[in-house]
Amino acid sequence: MVYSKIIGTGAYVPARIVKNDELSKMVETNDEWITSRTGIKERRISIGERTYQIAAKAATEAIKNAGIDKKDIDMIILATITPDFFMPSTANLVQAELGLEDIPSFDIAAGCTGFVYGLQIADQFIKSKQSKTILVIGAEVLSKVTDWSDRNTCVLFGDGAGAVVLKSSNQEGIICTYTGSQGDLQESLTLPAVPLKNPFLQVQNNNGKPNHISMCGKEVFQFATRIMIKSISQVLNKSNLLIDDIDYIIPHQANIRIIDHVARELKVERQRFIINLDRFGNTSSASIPLALDEAHKKKIFCPGNRVIMVAFGGGLTWGAALSNWTM
Ligand code: UT7
Repeated sequence: MVYSKIIGTGAYVPARIVKNDELSKMVETNDEWITSRTGIKERRISIGERTYQIAAKAATEAIKNAGIDKKDIDMIILATITPDFFMPSTANLVQAELGLEDIPSFDIAAGCTGFVYGLQIADQFIKSKQSKTILVIGAEVLSKVTDWSDRNTCVLFGDGAGAVVLKSSNQEGIICTYTGSQGDLQESLTLPAVPLKNPFLQVQNNNGKPNHISMCGKEVFQFATRIMIKSISQVLNKSNLLIDDIDYIIPHQANIRIIDHVARELKVERQRFIINLDRFGNTSSASIPLALDEAHKKKIFCPGNRVIMVAFGGGLTWGAALSNWTM
């Protein structure tokens, strides 16, 4: 039996730190509101680095941490909602930046669930023996699509990248994955692309929405708490495990109150949740691999631990991956 397992992690965040107090000079907000409503104290903001550049830095660290030759990488899957171009994909740019030749590389857009979707796809490629060593990256420069005059959203997001190397193994790493989507809830969290405009339109369309994130926070909050619990239950049921068999949960880092709600419902102590949103905010596709890398560097996980990564995001999308920790 062939399995896939994580053999290396890496992360990169821009150096510029923006604390809540700095935002309170830009919009009508304050540190007390942001901290008590979200748990976020500060975030990192790119002052020039592009998505592919921070992605490549996280990937380089993951390859080094895995102790492999970068030429062993036979696929790159990159999750992002903030690509540098529609074409080429950000994964293509990372491939060039890392100096890797001829391998397939592509982006996936699944909102903040992108990294979990990426893990699921990589796991399938490895289990079907079409690939052996896959780089899965989550990378975002959300600051370029943030409306910095909208206090409902600008206090939430940050920039960063995280990556893992997934390798084929006869030892079970990833136990199971689960993903879902519900497009009819699209309006609650959107980031528009290019509006339809061409010389052949009968009526010229000048009212395309600006390309920044807009969100109905309350709707997303309620959805998030429900769907995180469902996603966790799905991977537990599929693997015949109970929540008490799980050592750690790495949730999408959106809001500490969402995580607390999930912890209470599942009757899991907060210490078993990996949390770093206080320092990085919501980094969308990057949030889980960033938190995973930090926990690994802090030696929080032991070989034999079971870890669930669980996310939700624009789409709306959701998903979870349950893995043995083998490093
Ligand atoms: O990756 C997925 C992305 N998104 C999420 O996970 C977001 C999920 N939702 C949330 O995290 C929360 O809904 C928010 C943090 C976005 C908002 O928290 P809330 O407790 O749902 O606040 P609210 O939207 O109900 O707003 C409460 C009040 C409002 O004022 P009034 O109408 O009561 O006078 C807002 O105008 O807080 C006001 N408000 C703010 N005040 C100070 C909204 N944003 C701010 C702000 N600073 N930044």
